[in-house]
Amino acid sequence: MKRPRYLLIPRLLLIFYVFFCRIPGIMSTRLVTLGSIELYQTHDWFPSKPTIYFSCQGGKNRTILPDVRQTNILYTFKGEESWQPLTELPVNKCKRCGLYEEDVIKSDDVFDEWELCADDFVDGKYSHFKDKEFNATFICLECTASADSTRSVSSDRKAVVKKPNVALVVILCVLASVVTVIGMVTAYKLWQKRKREQDQARFLKLFEEGDDIEDELGIGRVI
Ligand SMILES: *[C@@H]1O[C@H](CO)[C@@H](O)[C@H](O)[C@H]1NC(C)=O
Ligand SMILES: *[C@@H]1O[C@H](CO)[C@@H](O)[C@H](O)[C@H]1NC(C)=O
Repeated sequence: MKRPRYLLIPRLLLIFYVFFCRIPGIMSTRLVTLGSIELYQTHDWFPSKPTIYFSCQGGKNRTILPDVRQTNILYTFKGEESWQPLTELPVNKCKRCGLYEEDVIKSDDVFDEWELCADDFVDGKYSHFKDKEFNATFICLECTASADSTRSVSSDRKAVVKKPNVALVVILCVLASVVTVIGMVTAYKLWQKRKREQDQARFLKLFEEGDDIEDELGIGRVI
C-alpha cells in the first residue's frame, strides 16, 4: 500500500526539530588537547629532568607531558599522542586547570592555575601565556564549532554577541515544537477524515455488492 503523503510533513518537521534543537554542543565531546608548549623556567632544585603535568580540578586526573623536559624549547604536538587529550570541557561551564611540576621534597610547584573555558577558544585554539612561566596552545575544535558567528570576535564582545544566539536557538526550538505539534494535529485530523471517507466508501461498496448478490439470486430464482 502506498504510504499516505500527509504523514510526510510531520516527519520532516520532526527531523528538522531533532537537527535544529539539539542545542549545538550538547552531544559533541569537547576534548581539549595540547597543541604546543614552551616553558620559560622550571621550579625543581635539580633541573635535570622535571616532570611536568597538566591537571584539572584538584588534580585527581593528571596528564604527564612525557617529552617536555627543557626550558625555552617550543614543543609541538599533533593532538594524537597517547597521553592526549588533556581533558574534556562540560557545556557552559569552565574547568579550573593548571600546569604543575612534580616536586619530590615539597608539594608540587604551580606554573599557573586558571579557568579553562570553551568560550576562550577562537577557531578551536586558545593560548595561555604566563610571564616567565610558560606559553601553551590548547586545541578544542568542538569548542568553537557551535559559535560560528562569534568567531574572530574579540573576547570582550564575544560574551555580548553570544547571548542572543542562545536566545535565538531557544526561540526557534519553541517555534519548531509548536509547528511540529500543529503539523501532527493537522495530520491526525486529515487521517481521521480520510479514514471516515474510506469507511463510507467501503460501506457503500458493501451495499452495492449486496445488490449484486440479490440480483444474482433473483435471476437464479427466475431460471
Ligand atoms: C579520569 O580520566 C578518566 C579517563 O579520561 C575518566 O574516565 C575518569 O572519570 C577521570 N576521573 C576523574 C576523577 O576525573
Ligand atoms: C605563544 O605561542 C603561540 C604559538 O606558538 C604564539 O602564537 C604566541 O604568540 C605565543 N605568545 C607569546 C606571548 O609568546
